[in-house]
Amino acid sequence: MRNSPKLYVASLIMVLLFGPSHELPPFWPATTVTMTNKLGGPLLTVHCKSKENDLGVHMVAANTDYFFTFQPNIWKSTLFFCSFQWNNQVKQFDIFDAMRDQDDGYKQNWTIRLYGPCKLGKKVNCFLWK
Ligand SMILES: *[C@@H]1O[C@H](CO)[C@@H](O)[C@H](O)[C@H]1NC(C)=O
Repeated sequence: MRNSPKLYVASLIMVLLFGPSHELPPFWPATTVTMTNKLGGPLLTVHCKSKENDLGVHMVAANTDYFFTFQPNIWKSTLFFCSFQWNNQVKQFDIFDAMRDQDDGYKQNWTIRLYGPCKLGKKVNCFLWK
């Protein structure tokens, strides 16, 4: 009996450390990533995936947005990569990379521009398409 609180804590830690992330209750709010078409006219086609999920193909008109919501895992390995197509262009970008993005809050906003995506915030962080 004396040991049971310790056992309880030990099993809790085991569950936290080794439980599969998608079955854990959410310990922190879900993250929403929003992408706004700022290409200056063209219709944008966005297709985002993670290792486990295919979020499908979405058509995003000029100056409108597409967003998705997910629960990042506790190991900072969550990765969502997207393809962006317009006119005859096809570009790829990791729109959520936990190592880069996980500490930037639960609402992350990007603008999709001709030269690359920009992450909004106190400091705007722009990337060039590869
Ligand atoms: C992203 O947009 C939402 C909705 O407009 C806003 O509440 C939030 O503060 C924005 N976050 C950043 C980091 O710009």
